[in-house]
Amino acid sequence: MKLPFSESYKIKMVEPIRRSTREQREQWIEDAKYNLFNLRSDQVFIDLLTDSGTGAMSQMQWSEMMLGDESYAGASSYFKIKNAIREITGFEYFLPTHQGRAAENVLFSTILKENDIVPGNSHFDTTKGHIEFRKAHAIDCTIDEAFITTLDHPFKGDVDLNKLENVLKAHPASQIPVIIITITCNSSGGQPVSMKNLREVKKMADQYGITVFFDSARFAENAYFIKIREEGYRDKSIREIVREMFSYADGMTMSSKKDAIVNMGGFIGFNSKELFDRATMYNILFEGYISYGGMSGRDMNALAQGLYEGTDFDYLETRIKQVAYLGGLLKDYGIPIQFPFGGHAIFVDAKRFLPHLPKEEYVAQTLAIELYIEGGVRGVEIGTLLADRDPGTGLNRYPDLELMRLAIPRRVYTNNHMDYIAAALINVFDRRDKITKGFKIVKEAPILRHFTVELEKA
Ligand SMILES: Cc1ncc(COP(=O)(O)O)c(C=O)c1O
Repeated sequence: MKLPFSESYKIKMVEPIRRSTREQREQWIEDAKYNLFNLRSDQVFIDLLTDSGTGAMSQMQWSEMMLGDESYAGASSYFKIKNAIREITGFEYFLPTHQGRAAENVLFSTILKENDIVPGNSHFDTTKGHIEFRKAHAIDCTIDEAFITTLDHPFKGDVDLNKLENVLKAHPASQIPVIIITITCNSSGGQPVSMKNLREVKKMADQYGITVFFDSARFAENAYFIKIREEGYRDKSIREIVREMFSYADGMTMSSKKDAIVNMGGFIGFNSKELFDRATMYNILFEGYISYGGMSGRDMNALAQGLYEGTDFDYLETRIKQVAYLGGLLKDYGIPIQFPFGGHAIFVDAKRFLPHLPKEEYVAQTLAIELYIEGGVRGVEIGTLLADRDPGTGLNRYPDLELMRLAIPRRVYTNNHMDYIAAALINVFDRRDKITKGFKIVKEAPILRHFTVELEKA
């Protein structure tokens, strides 16, 4: 008998989770103003709100925590993380930050001014938030295939080079301080960008004299997909692929809460000493001195160790196969999901799941609420609420994709949990015709409203 695939770790410490009744959940979600972010974690049975900062650290990471050097300057932890970043990404200069959006804040404070243009592939919401907060514009140049959820394309995170070139031609280089490529592309479904595309984007950017940064939260998962799906990479190691990927960037921002498998942390990597020097002032102002930037020494140690573990093939295979296991269960039942399966999450196509609901009633949010009521599973809306209003017109922006994301924390749940999640969503699918009403907004913030929005039944 062929031996089946199995996880590349065993469990040493556990955290109990509690079931609840449907009646309790109906009350709790109403009390939470139908915003899943407002639920207490003990009101959730399986938490798929995010894969960010929710992973389980390894025994090596926990032991590294004990070795943390909390000296204000010159700490060994600083050199540990610096060496790990140089070895894994190739970037010579780096600034630590407390998380990914802090890295964006420092970078954009350094290079972005009003009316600037930042092309990219479906910018993540915090990236777009930082750009629009500075009255600049994020222009999405993702390939059209990314928006057809039924289409099986290996690299739906790719940039459409024609779209990009049109943007680069239409504006002077002085108005485009950076191109941001998100690897993997969270907003379009955790979809990877091919090496070929990264290479071509860099070539074009060089022709136009424009800097390229990678939003690198899930760079290792991107490398895994390149290894598995792109010709010429099967025999290369994940670390070799990662080094080649970053050779096509001038710098990177990192939310270490994803692929470095820590609960908190981030950084910016640079090739340019000049840019690093300029960014340093903002880092000190917003984050802390350059040898810790918002992290304690023990956090930097765990992060450095996490960079090595997160780029280990066996770990990545376990992780991505678990996501695909859930995807397979849903696909087999005919639930409309984004194909191919993402690296960190399964994205359910809410418009096809609930086609009868009007877009004004927040379709993906409605689906996420129904899934919570059904089984205590907390997903998240990646749709109209997340897209915010157009800063110019004040009108809702209706994105092409209205998705419910089921993000799988790293090394946390077992495949029995995946079975449970699938069963809960299947139950919702079976009664989808009875879901005839969505939600309306009662209260919202002008930017990143989905975190705090309050809703009531439409
Ligand atoms: C692609 C991407 N970029 C940036 C961020 C922001 O990182 P953080 O949550 O650490 O601020 C996230 C968080 O989910 C992300 O997915």
